[in-house]
Amino acid sequence: MDVLAVGLDAFCTEFVQKQLPEAKFLTVTTVPDFEKLLEGTEVSYGLCLCGSEIKELNPIELAQALRTQYANAQIHYITVAREGFDKKKLAKNGFNDAFLLPLENSVLARSLEDFIAQFKKIKTFRAVKIIDIQPDSELSFDVRVYLPVNKKYVMFSTAGDKIEKEKVDRLQKHKMGSVYVAKDDMSKFYDYSANRLIALGNADNNSMSETERRDRLQTSVRDLVSTVVNTAADEATIDSGRQIISDVKNIVDKYILNSKPNEWYAKMLQTLGEANDSYSHASNVSTYAGLFSIGLGLGKPEDLATAGLLHDLGMADIPPAILGKDPSQWTEEEKKIYQSHPEMSVSIIKARKLIVPQQVTNAILQHHERWDGRGYPKGMHEIKICKEAMVLSLADQFDYLTTAQEGKKRFQPREAIHHLQETGAFNPDFLQKVLKIIPAET
Ligand SMILES: [Fe+2]
Ligand SMILES: [Fe+2]
Repeated sequence: MDVLAVGLDAFCTEFVQKQLPEAKFLTVTTVPDFEKLLEGTEVSYGLCLCGSEIKELNPIELAQALRTQYANAQIHYITVAREGFDKKKLAKNGFNDAFLLPLENSVLARSLEDFIAQFKKIKTFRAVKIIDIQPDSELSFDVRVYLPVNKKYVMFSTAGDKIEKEKVDRLQKHKMGSVYVAKDDMSKFYDYSANRLIALGNADNNSMSETERRDRLQTSVRDLVSTVVNTAADEATIDSGRQIISDVKNIVDKYILNSKPNEWYAKMLQTLGEANDSYSHASNVSTYAGLFSIGLGLGKPEDLATAGLLHDLGMADIPPAILGKDPSQWTEEEKKIYQSHPEMSVSIIKARKLIVPQQVTNAILQHHERWDGRGYPKGMHEIKICKEAMVLSLADQFDYLTTAQEGKKRFQPREAIHHLQETGAFNPDFLQKVLKIIPAET
């Protein structure tokens, strides 16, 4: 597998080499080398990764030159430099996609994984919501379940089979919100779910499957975060801030708080246990924070959902070298920088002129403060931590504990709360209330 790397910075180079261990890289770091490359035709590259390090080369011209040479290649822009990173413009002008690392490490990793799979002709899978699968209906695609402990996708129902209600119930009993369909079969799944909506009589313009809702939510969150972090502070105006806040409101109304109050737990179960990247984390935490707020009657759901979307924005300001390092290897100084991310989130919000309620700012500032005082950045204690921050940090931890991750135990909802009880990180009365609203496992 030949991969072309043009002007990548050190962090991006290391990252992609780690993701593509079997690839043979041709690295281009100067203009003359790039010109020489365009003259040669020996190797046709299927994957071109471009960065911002060759200052004389404008990224758009770079993409266009490569596109002419390697018509069918995937051409991506990858950088750690936030300034001038305009995803939409890059994508419109020759790049298949543009990634800002380390914020988008996991998104890029998934895209590279797809590339390898395509190259090796092996399958990759996408999560689809179980709620979108009608029990006892015949499916034209294979359905698998993912076992995170041994990192395996196991066949659950084969194309042409009816997926019995009993089998679907069994998954729901294990609080699995999703099953997996091969990426190449996703169009079959979308056809199936569109027909199902028609059959259910729900096919008006706004109806969409939960899977589609999740996909659109993730795209919107990715757009939102990249717009916020890439707007240069000195270009931010009241108007640009207002526009971003209206995008946030849209996401919250349309995708997050779109369930009836008595359905909050069902909605939570649908969100459980999906892939873990920075954008699904933001959208999951937003969903959980909004839903816990509804279920517990604490704080305003829309404030909590907003705080959930924005809580880790400050990660964009933490140097890649720190984020790329194992936390156990951090120096005291590095740890302090990492632990300033809640404050960084709030400074990004202020600098971009996003006007949000004080409760949202406080929740974000305190989302790593802990009941026993062992949190950060301030080490606040007990009732000094505001109720919105308690709900937000519960949502944050809940997402971490219930998400399927390689080699890590995935907690069931009540199990996750019991686990938090043992840590002393939360007000015990508060967790008791949470346990009261989460139905016992059946
Ligand atoms: Fe955080
Ligand atoms: Fe977080």
